[in-house]
Amino acid sequence: MAATLIDGKAFAAKVRGQVAEHVARLKEQNGITPGLAVVLVGEDPASQVYVRSKGKQTVEVGMNSYEHKLEADTSEADLLALIDQLNNDASVHGILVQLPLPKHLDEDLVINSIAPEKDVDGFHISNVGLLGTGQKSMVPCTPLGCLMMLRDHHGSLSGMDAVVIGRSNIVGKPMAQLLLGDSCTVTIAHSRTKDLPDVVRRADIVVAAVGRPEMVPGDWIKEGATVIDVGINRIERGGKNVLVGDVDFASAAERAGAITPVPGGVGPMTIACLLANTVTACCRANNLAEPEGLTA
Ligand code: GUN
Repeated sequence: MAATLIDGKAFAAKVRGQVAEHVARLKEQNGITPGLAVVLVGEDPASQVYVRSKGKQTVEVGMNSYEHKLEADTSEADLLALIDQLNNDASVHGILVQLPLPKHLDEDLVINSIAPEKDVDGFHISNVGLLGTGQKSMVPCTPLGCLMMLRDHHGSLSGMDAVVIGRSNIVGKPMAQLLLGDSCTVTIAHSRTKDLPDVVRRADIVVAAVGRPEMVPGDWIKEGATVIDVGINRIERGGKNVLVGDVDFASAAERAGAITPVPGGVGPMTIACLLANTVTACCRANNLAEPEGLTA
């Protein structure tokens, strides 16, 4: 393997350490403990795992974790009433409603009922607009984690050619905005893109976020490019269930200058950035200096 491995697991541990230091300082100097409320509606098994992990890591960095588990048939009015209560609770600095929601609930309506300054997912339409116009916002966790790793590896990203494969609201679009904010020349590619291999071959930075196992082969990667693989796909290989990314790791690592593995790349950074966003939201709510290096 020629490429440098970008170790997201180690990077996430470092981010959690920085968050924990900032939380300790907030407690000591200001008597404030940041609090994150996570709302889970229903019993989706994957969501339950994520929510448990978020709660555990929140407590580990010294913050308060408030978990609200609601029945799958909870009415929209009851969910909105809970969000209103959390919006008005000064001990709650971040609110996350775990997605997907059961079908009878309007996700956009629910997300946009969260106070934008507490929207630690960065999904509220106000935060989307603020990010798109280069203003201070809450930034979605997964793209924020990718940006942190890219900045750490390269220093400045200015002038680099970046391609983001995937146009989701959660990853692709905000990732493109962040790269543009760091003065990259950005292409957003998707399922209808013509000549995707050629588009990818021109890129110094490739962020793959499509959710299709190993769809980017190594021969699409420019020599020395940096590859950030957001995909987490469960497939069966050799009679075993394994996790693979959207990039064919083995062949891409032969050509890339640096690459994130799956697992152990982008994945661990998402929750670390959620904790970072919560401490940022807490500082903003209290007119205190924000932690350096933990925001876009
Ligand atoms: N479900 C899967 N990923 C996420 C995420 O980043 N935020 C929320 N709220 N739900 C999710």
